[in-house]
Amino acid sequence: MRLISQIMQERKRGDKPVAYIRTYGCQQNVADSERIKGMLEIAGFEFSETVDDADFILFNTCAIREHAEDRVFGNVGALKSLKRKHPQIVIALCGCMMEQEHIANKMYKSFPFVSLVFGTHSLHRFPQLLYHTLADGKRVYERDNDDKKVYEGIPVKRDGTFKGWLSIMYGCNNFCTYCIVPYVRGRERSREKSLILDEARQMISAGYKDITLLGQNVNSYGKTLADKPTFAQLLHEIDSIDGDYWLRFMTSHPKDCSKELIDTIANGTHISKHLHLPFQSGSDRILKAMNRHYDRKKYLDIVNYAKEKIDGVSLTSDIIVGFPGETYEDFKETLSLIREVEFTSLFTFIYSPRVGTPAAKMDDPIPAEEKSKWFRELLDVQEEIAAKRCASMVNNTEKVLIESETGKNGELNGRTSGNIIVELKGDKSLIGTFQNVKITQARNWILKGELV
Ligand code: SAH
Ligand code: SF4
Ligand code: F3S
Repeated sequence: MRLISQIMQERKRGDKPVAYIRTYGCQQNVADSERIKGMLEIAGFEFSETVDDADFILFNTCAIREHAEDRVFGNVGALKSLKRKHPQIVIALCGCMMEQEHIANKMYKSFPFVSLVFGTHSLHRFPQLLYHTLADGKRVYERDNDDKKVYEGIPVKRDGTFKGWLSIMYGCNNFCTYCIVPYVRGRERSREKSLILDEARQMISAGYKDITLLGQNVNSYGKTLADKPTFAQLLHEIDSIDGDYWLRFMTSHPKDCSKELIDTIANGTHISKHLHLPFQSGSDRILKAMNRHYDRKKYLDIVNYAKEKIDGVSLTSDIIVGFPGETYEDFKETLSLIREVEFTSLFTFIYSPRVGTPAAKMDDPIPAEEKSKWFRELLDVQEEIAAKRCASMVNNTEKVLIESETGKNGELNGRTSGNIIVELKGDKSLIGTFQNVKITQARNWILKGELV
């Protein structure tokens, strides 16, 4: 049997087979792409930042909003001429869009130059699927392969050398009425705690300084495991590993956010003082229609407890504007909530109907222009809040992880434990290290500082 690496030696255009992976969507997809890269690396591939010299092109797609899907359609379409010029290249599509039958079918039919289509549940079978299309020269299409298992032992080639993702669970059981994720990622399943701890230890000894634990709702970690460990227990055990690193996690669902978790953060050594706690809407009526299982009061109770226990806690959230049936009165409740909490930053989205979700069948009378107006109003209010929050940090000395050059001469970007960007002067040899930085100025949601 010939191997992928042998076949690619014959098909490659340059000295070595080259792969190009483009990732859309959330960190879950980024983490999946890192596993695909791990598998490709073993098969002898190098990686490129552009499609031009690639022998294998893969788009890992996202289905969360219409805009995300439209971009994929446009960008895949643009590969047609490349494939015509170099017929030996292999083009593949995977990710969340491919787990939606109507979309995957449409893409498979519209783009005959795509050789391989597979969904999120087939990630572990990627080498076999690639081998099939390479060896037989046939198109391969696999989706809806949800066997509810966690596949361990897939190699990972992480994009970053000091910031990294660590998946602790997959899937989601919450079925928020607007959301496609449970349909495209399947039921919630957790990784064994010992394996997560092993991977965390490896990352820390490899020099990772900023590790983010990933799951759609990390607060329900452990429910599918025999001994039912809680997320707070897992977090505490990772935090007990020696080293100089920060530990973050996302996403925390407010319905399951326990005081135990907040106490664990407050008493932690490495856990960043940052809580991403998406509330989506400030209106109880809309929260109910969204199937979120908490109300405004419960949300504020958790936030207030976090503010009380975690010194200088930085809170961030996701918000949806224009959910079906939302009125301006409901929207004003969202505005009042963000004023009350004073978030550091927000990820704001205009509602986008997703085929197959309950909300897509709900009456949605508010016109798009009206929703855009509310959206801009929300951004204005948040800008004012973020500016105020950043201004309150001037003169503080913060531990900052230096991440990159800003592009301006001699300037670097870093991040605080609360995930706020800090710009400072310094040498690029500091990238990947922690530095103490005195905050000298606040510019909207960005801080300026000086090395101490
Ligand atoms: N599991 C995470 C969120 C994952 S999706 C959580 O529950 O918080 C990231 C964000 O996308 C969601 O928090 C929501 O704000 C937004 N989102 C999801 N579906 C959407 C839709 N149909 N339209 C607009 N925004 C959506
Ligand atoms: Fe989607 Fe809700 Fe699950 Fe988050 S918790 S992924 S918003 S269904
Ligand atoms: Fe998109 Fe899938 Fe993430 S739909 S937001 S890539 S889980």
